[in-house]
Amino acid sequence: MLNIALPKGRLGEKVYALFEEAGFECPSIKENNRKLIFENPEKGVRYFWVKPSDVSIYVERGAADIGVCGKDILTEYAPDVYELFDFKTGICRMAVAAPKGFYDDGQTTLRVATKFVRSAKAFYASKGRDIDVIKLNGSIEIAPILGLSDVIVDIVETGTTLKENNLEVIEEIFPISARLIANKASFKFKTQAIEGLLAKLREEI
Ligand code: PRP
Repeated sequence: MLNIALPKGRLGEKVYALFEEAGFECPSIKENNRKLIFENPEKGVRYFWVKPSDVSIYVERGAADIGVCGKDILTEYAPDVYELFDFKTGICRMAVAAPKGFYDDGQTTLRVATKFVRSAKAFYASKGRDIDVIKLNGSIEIAPILGLSDVIVDIVETGTTLKENNLEVIEEIFPISARLIANKASFKFKTQAIEGLLAKLREEI
């Protein structure tokens, strides 16, 4: 049985549809209930829904053999896993955004609000820019509006959230898409099952 961690939410549902098309369906997952674990022994798969930022933890520690995770999480937490496949879906980008008209004089320490502390630090370190990182857990966009920060480092998908809060992208940091990741020991001991699934996904996408 392959244990597969899926990110709860829109991306997870989209990716599950790809697993389904590739022949690894699990009909009970579509039942409208609050269960989190679903299995189809015939196909040798057990899916479970976890918080998107937790997928890599389940996979790294072997509670899941494989999982689906955004490149943002892989960059931020650098889990010790194999990255096997780019689904080329869930496409968005990590970017710096600021209130319209914001000008960085480069002199004072820049206050940066973000969920992605490591990514923000690495980006500004590469430019030799001093920053003060303010770690938030969500609704990052309001930080510069309320004067908590000068800029934000966050995920931009359609750009609607920025627009509706009078912010704009000032720098792009890196592109993001959903990736298939595998636990290193699972990859060794369940090679055939994982490679088989990977081959079917590749055919499908
Ligand atoms: C993400 C991100 C932005 C928004 C960007 O938020 O943090 O707020 O999506 O999408 P858009 O460019 O299409 O508007 P998420 O939904 O994960 O919520 P949170 O960051 O507030 O937790």
